[in-house]
Amino acid sequence: MAEKVNYDNYLKVSELLSLQESLSEPKAHDELLFITIHQAYELWFKQILFEMDAACVAIKAGAAYDATRIFQRILKIEGILVPQIHILETMSPRDFLSFRKILNPASGFQSVQFRQVEFLSGMKSQESLDSMDRFDLDTTKLHQRFNEPSIREVFYEALQTAGYDVAIPTDNTNPEGDDLDRTLETLKTIYEFPEKHYKWYALAEALVSHDQNLLLWRFHHVRVVERLIGSKMGTGGSAGVKYLESTLSKRAYPMLWFARGMLTDDLYGTIRGHTTD
Ligand code: HEM
Repeated sequence: MAEKVNYDNYLKVSELLSLQESLSEPKAHDELLFITIHQAYELWFKQILFEMDAACVAIKAGAAYDATRIFQRILKIEGILVPQIHILETMSPRDFLSFRKILNPASGFQSVQFRQVEFLSGMKSQESLDSMDRFDLDTTKLHQRFNEPSIREVFYEALQTAGYDVAIPTDNTNPEGDDLDRTLETLKTIYEFPEKHYKWYALAEALVSHDQNLLLWRFHHVRVVERLIGSKMGTGGSAGVKYLESTLSKRAYPMLWFARGMLTDDLYGTIRGHTTD
């Protein structure tokens, strides 16, 4: 007879709770926290990727409203992932050193799911892919994502299909010259008149919020890293804080960030069809 469903066997709680294996000897108290927080992030990355894939399908179909709704969930999840990193500040630099050497040469740098989130968002580069291939990791999915269109590409394709005059950026590159100019002009119009272009405006803003959350996560992560290891090198072999600081300029949707800076302040009256006085 089939086992009756209960909380444990449905959610596989026993299996889940057997996955936090400390390596330190004698056991370092803080290693459990270190493992748990990374595993919690990976579970949420899985959920985020699942939702981003669904959003990508919706955008491809021109269903901007559905994609925006899916992104609302992604943004809520990211909203807890940003402050969550600070739990690690309850570990002192000395506590961390008590087990840090056993992690060598493992590092969050090798999180394949984090790279997938970057690639699917639109932050793809051959250099990034190659750097992951240097480790003994299963990067099959990452290669697949590298070769598939990102949400950035799909978003501009959908705008074009909907009749907007935009060029489609690829991988880590933006359109150039006239293509860049006409794309920015179009985006500017969307930001000038959100009420006329609402479903695309709302999606664009969801994408910017997602980009901003990634950036905020990077910023909070690097501050926590600085508190814990100062100027030490990372276990993954990078320059540590210095390397992480260099990632703070990454953006998946640079044109959306730029377009708002093109708006002028003489619009307030016009957009409501009356003057402001
Ligand atoms: C004690 C806490 C932590 C320390 C000291 C730390 C340190 C570092 C350092 C130094 C790097 C640069 C690569 C290297 O040389 O290792 C890095 C990268 C990274 N870490 Fe952490 N980390 C911590 C916690 C976390 C947590 C909880 C996560 C959650 C998944 C995480 C995810 C990442 C990711 C995704 C990268 C790659 C960032 C990029 O390349 O843009 N880290 N970490």
